[in-house]
Amino acid sequence: MTARPVIIAPDPRLKVKCAPVESVDAEVRTLMDDMLESMHAAKGIGLAAPQVGIHKRVIVVDIRGEDKKPKPLCLANPELVWKSDDTIVHEEGCLSLPEHYAEVTRPEKVKVRFLDYDGNEREIEADGLLGTCIQHEMDHLEGILFVDHLSSLKRNIILRKLTKTKRLNNGDSG
Ligand code: NI
Repeated sequence: MTARPVIIAPDPRLKVKCAPVESVDAEVRTLMDDMLESMHAAKGIGLAAPQVGIHKRVIVVDIRGEDKKPKPLCLANPELVWKSDDTIVHEEGCLSLPEHYAEVTRPEKVKVRFLDYDGNEREIEADGLLGTCIQHEMDHLEGILFVDHLSSLKRNIILRKLTKTKRLNNGDSG
């Protein structure tokens, strides 16, 4: 497994609609392994393939329970089959928008169909933090970031700060 660098917003590579995988083959499994490695290295709870520059419909999540044991989930071609009318507000962050957090409203519960690490079709019902996390990662596959759920005012403040940080890191004086 190799951790791959995570792309930081704003970046056009994070705004691309991703293509489905044909099947979960060795290449996709390597991508899933690398994504889990990258996510764990960055202490994240979810990561989508476009965040490491791969425009395929693959996401990984790992919400640890009370026992703190890893519970990695790999989802290829995730599809929303049902969502609740009830909504929930969670403070969200993103490895592509480091150090920025904001409250986002989403359906409280979702049912998602996907191909797992072994290529088997599965369905899960997710609520709470897991439900929010899966929806956040699925958004990435459409080129949507959590800041796109905020007002343009709030979004622009965050994106401007990120642009500034990037410039500083690149050694530009501007
Ligand atoms: Ni994210």
